[in-house]
Amino acid sequence: WKPPGSLPVGPLPRLPTWEWPGGVGGIYTVLQTKAKITSDEWGENYFLMGPYLEQNVRTQVELIDPPHPAVRRTIDSMNAKGCKVYFGRWLIEGGPYVVLLDVGATAWSLDRWKTELWESCAIGVPWYDREANDAVLFGFLAAWFLGEFVAQCEEKPFVIGHFHEWLAGVGLILCRTRKLPVATIFTTHATLLGRYLCAGSVDFYNNLHAFNVDKEAGDRQIYHRYCMERAAVHCTHVFTTVSQITAVEAEHLLKRKPGEGLGKFSAMHEFQNLHAQSKAHIQEFVRGHFYGHLDFNLDKTLFFFIAGRYEFSNKGADIFLEALARLNYLLRVNGSQVTVVTFFIMPARTNNFNVESLKGQAVRKQLWDTANAVKEKFGKKLYESLLVGNLPDMNKMLDKEDFTMMKRAIFATQRHSFPPVCTHNMLDDSTDPVLNTIRRLGLFNSSADRVKVIFHPEFLSSTSPLLPVDYEEFVRGCHLGVFPSYYEPWGYTPAECTVMGIPSISTNLSGFGCFMEEHIADPSAYGIYILDRRFRALDDSCTQLTSFLYSFCQQSRRQRIIQRNRTERLSDLLDWKYLGRVSRRGAGSPPPCPSGPPPRPPWEPTPWGEPAAVRGRHGGWLRGAEGSCGDGRRGRGMGRSWPSPP
Ligand code: UDP
Ligand code: G6P
Repeated sequence: WKPPGSLPVGPLPRLPTWEWPGGVGGIYTVLQTKAKITSDEWGENYFLMGPYLEQNVRTQVELIDPPHPAVRRTIDSMNAKGCKVYFGRWLIEGGPYVVLLDVGATAWSLDRWKTELWESCAIGVPWYDREANDAVLFGFLAAWFLGEFVAQCEEKPFVIGHFHEWLAGVGLILCRTRKLPVATIFTTHATLLGRYLCAGSVDFYNNLHAFNVDKEAGDRQIYHRYCMERAAVHCTHVFTTVSQITAVEAEHLLKRKPGEGLGKFSAMHEFQNLHAQSKAHIQEFVRGHFYGHLDFNLDKTLFFFIAGRYEFSNKGADIFLEALARLNYLLRVNGSQVTVVTFFIMPARTNNFNVESLKGQAVRKQLWDTANAVKEKFGKKLYESLLVGNLPDMNKMLDKEDFTMMKRAIFATQRHSFPPVCTHNMLDDSTDPVLNTIRRLGLFNSSADRVKVIFHPEFLSSTSPLLPVDYEEFVRGCHLGVFPSYYEPWGYTPAECTVMGIPSISTNLSGFGCFMEEHIADPSAYGIYILDRRFRALDDSCTQLTSFLYSFCQQSRRQRIIQRNRTERLSDLLDWKYLGRVSRRGAGSPPPCPSGPPPRPPWEPTPWGEPAAVRGRHGGWLRGAEGSCGDGRRGRGMGRSWPSPP
């Protein structure tokens, strides 16, 4: 026996042109996070393969001579025949080896290789599809490498090639048509057709069985891509998907049931799992923040949030708070089991965290330590009892000292005030619009409240002693982003939610909301709720917002999971590859914002002034969309063009 070589072949994160530009794509996460554990297991026999991109290689890869003689001979042989193959270490945790294939350097072979693909598999790739042409080049180079490697080994090697996504599929197909001694795995992270169909006006999940897949692919001019994907799926020895829901989709759209003989395969770090992991962090914070008042079931608690610049009514914090008060009432009178914890992440002038919030986390930590100390002692006694062949006497498992320790810890959780509404000492406490509205509405986090409010007047950071998560992790852990803006040229926050599979509420006065309304027939089916703030009076908008929130609270966990899957499917619509393409064609670019919001309807007079529209940049994703409103307003950076609120 000797350890097999393992060659995951596929779009290397951030290295190929076709990967998600911000590096947050699922494949990136899967491969990058998998690299350490796989390197630990396979050691020097684990190689990743991807296209060579100079810019990214310069910052992410250390080019080295291949230590494995057969790999060195393979690369030398290919380079002697006009290829450009590089070898290095990918500078991430685990530092796996990478084999990088310069697709452009062998572009002269494209016609020949396309002919071969046509003759062996009857897949014809049109000249104008650059991405598909690159996939052909990459596939032929990958198969060439694998074939050459096998030939260069003195003893017959055991090679597993793991191919990700249709873009890497050609290499797999060639492995089989050329009968290379390579065991193949194909993993699809989402099907091509699924992505396209979901971005249209199709009731996707209810019609999975009924699609005429060839026609649908043809109608969308992706038939050749679809053929590559389907051929790879049917050629591979083992076919896997990253989740159960994609498995069902693949069975219908690609006509093969994944995971045969393998059982269910689920990538640990797909967005649903990330949601569960991040939610656990937020729950920990909530346990501390609400110590002494944890009379609600965290398993039935939903996390809503609003985030961004602190412009109280521009960002719709006013209408949101009002709707929360109404939601609180509705949940109470209907005896709902659901609790909603709502976060306001909007930076204001503060003087650090307040003592009560810090104390909450300290108390939680103390309870955790106490529980662990008792558990240790308990475990030891249990172990000793089992060693001598006795079942433990439960009455003797905890002694007086344990009880004293636990009572002391419980004593520390007593508190005579409600859990704080704000996490910081506010400099302008008495005039702060959020705090004043909370006071007026009486949302004080009492036990009777089904809606709790936490105002965190600072952007999030993983180094915070209070809520140590960065913004991305926080968003992933929440259930719903609420951005009922009155003025929002584009609005990154709901777009960021979408790419992370988190449903959101935006408005038809925001660039994002207009864009989604224009491109998707029924956005709410995909977890994109668009509030009408343009044609309705403020009070009506507030009623609509309340009904969005209330119906969201009535969903079961299963419905939320399905909805997140649907939301995430819209990511491609927000990919700059797509946006760039449609805007060059002049159709469907982030659409013109309405020509200016209507005059603000009369509502309760607000005693605060609107902060000046200072528009800074924050960290985040999907950068570069400012100025996408088609009405000449260049978006972020412009002042207000209508009267300030009273
Ligand atoms: N944001 C952040 N950290 C936080 C909260 C928000 O970096 O704790 C970022 C978020 O990622 C988003 C930006 O703030 O990119 C807000 O952008 P948006 O276009 O929604 O609003 P604006 O720029 O008008 O404030
Ligand atoms: C993800 C996880 C599931 C978990 C669910 C919770 O889908 O993969 O294991 O049960 O999140 O969803 P919820 O909407 O209740 O936070």
